[in-house]
Amino acid sequence: MEKVTVKASRTYDILIDKGIIDKTGELVSDLKKSGKAAVITDDNVDRYYGERVMESLEKAGVSAKKFVFPHGEASKNHSTLLNIYDFLAENGYTRSDYIIALGGGVVGDTAGYAAATYMRGIDFVQIPTTVVSQADSSVGGKTAVDIAGGKNLVGAFHQPRLVICDTETLKTLTPEFFSDGMAEVIKHGMIKSRELFDILSNNDINNNLVDIMKRNVTIKGQVVENDEREKGERMLLNFGHTLGHAIEKYYNFTGLTHGCAVAVGMSVFTHIAERRGMTVKGTAEKLDTLLIKCGLPITDSAVENDLDKLYELSLHDKKHLSSGMNIIICPEIGKSEVVKMSVDEYKDFLKG
Ligand code: GLY
Repeated sequence: MEKVTVKASRTYDILIDKGIIDKTGELVSDLKKSGKAAVITDDNVDRYYGERVMESLEKAGVSAKKFVFPHGEASKNHSTLLNIYDFLAENGYTRSDYIIALGGGVVGDTAGYAAATYMRGIDFVQIPTTVVSQADSSVGGKTAVDIAGGKNLVGAFHQPRLVICDTETLKTLTPEFFSDGMAEVIKHGMIKSRELFDILSNNDINNNLVDIMKRNVTIKGQVVENDEREKGERMLLNFGHTLGHAIEKYYNFTGLTHGCAVAVGMSVFTHIAERRGMTVKGTAEKLDTLLIKCGLPITDSAVENDLDKLYELSLHDKKHLSSGMNIIICPEIGKSEVVKMSVDEYKDFLKG
């Protein structure tokens, strides 16, 4: 079993191994000597892993109940949240108890936000079951739900007590969903680790998942330790996302999936940065080769035909300050920096 410790406002371990989900009971009872667990998951994940987690908890003598909601981004809202609060209250959960978020980003974000707010905050454990949630969103304490005004607009920073990362759970993902998640993994290599980038480029990814996830959570954990509240370094994690979010919005979130949009965002910005002498020559080609290896796109018709509209849409990203844009550039593979641009400079940059 691999272990990575994150020393943020709360110190916690990320445990990574094949099949570790069956040890959930003993791992949480080592951490929490008393209290009962509320396992929160969606119907898809429940089908595969719900019973295994409940059995493991029972075997370890942990009292637990399960709450299941319908899968998908449409569930990441206040209605699901209220149902979770009701479930916790009706079953007598108190501040000595804790939530186990079993699933991908929607489950982690929603159950995490329930944990951040129920009784002004209770503990929670993440068991991420998708590539993005294992490599990225289960670490760092960002929790949120969507509102009509936008995605993730209501949330809190609330660090988990433990992250249990079972790479075997990635085997039940569709190839498309697996590929989609790889965009964030490649992003971590681009912004922080040439070594990770080379491992992804030169090896069979499926045969190296424990090592790959360990490297990802180490990178994510270090960024969070340095900048938990996203005032500086954490912004580097937005590489590919400025254009990526604009592309998702362009299609009203029904066209390119998040990872595909981020892949295009990373590729387009790296090509432009290379042309402008901000990035070492040859970087974009290496990035494109890896994106294609992972089944991800490197461009899109919106980029080819409607750049002005994408420019407009990227100005509305909540992560951009009214004073200008924070654009993430990788001068070379494994290195990244925040480049401040006025909106006019950004418009010019986008034109290449
Ligand atoms: N996924 C980006 C962050 O946690 O900041």
